[in-house]
Amino acid sequence: MFVLNKTNSIANHFLAEIRDQHIQKDSMRFRKNLERLGGLLAYEISKSLSYQPQPVTTPLGISHVNLLENQPVLIPIMRAGIPFYLGVLNYFDGAVSGFIGAYRHHAIGNDDFEIQMDYVATPSLKDRRVILIDPMLATGKSIVKTLKALRKNGEPQHIDIMCVIAAPEGIDFLHEHIDLKFNLWVAAVDEKLNDRAYIIPGLGDAGDLAYGHKS
Ligand code: URA
Repeated sequence: MFVLNKTNSIANHFLAEIRDQHIQKDSMRFRKNLERLGGLLAYEISKSLSYQPQPVTTPLGISHVNLLENQPVLIPIMRAGIPFYLGVLNYFDGAVSGFIGAYRHHAIGNDDFEIQMDYVATPSLKDRRVILIDPMLATGKSIVKTLKALRKNGEPQHIDIMCVIAAPEGIDFLHEHIDLKFNLWVAAVDEKLNDRAYIIPGLGDAGDLAYGHKS
């Protein structure tokens, strides 16, 4: 597992801002910081991909540059995954994308929830390197359910799962329930989940902070 904030960098400022309850009031800034963290994690993931030398003609000669052999497939989980995904797409700008709509469905008056998945639109994933993009790894249930749905569209060669903040419970759940090679890339690992399965200290509800409360 790669953890971005194990090394001090400017990423700490972006993380501090998305957690800060005062700065969070600026939803444009919240989305921008998710995008910036998406870009930084995409750069780290890019170091683990395969490259081939390619000639590039400059006005003065030929330069040989190692370029990506294949672009990954990018799959954000909506809603909160969208601004984080835009940061990844800025870097993998030739990638194709799929989209998943998944959310917590609470029975009235109950803290328990089911993951509801109502939108799955992806290209074929057969033998592809797939980057699954979800800012908050809490219970891990939505990622496991998403992967199950995605694998109906072809078995990926490898999965990269990228998150901004992960809870230890979610990390364990992924290792227990995913029987495919995967790497986890996160900006920070927090303490725990609370009894409503929110990450502590976390940042609150990433979807609401990016786009407003849904009814
Ligand atoms: N989703 C969020 O947006 N926040 C959490 O803390 C957990 C899941």
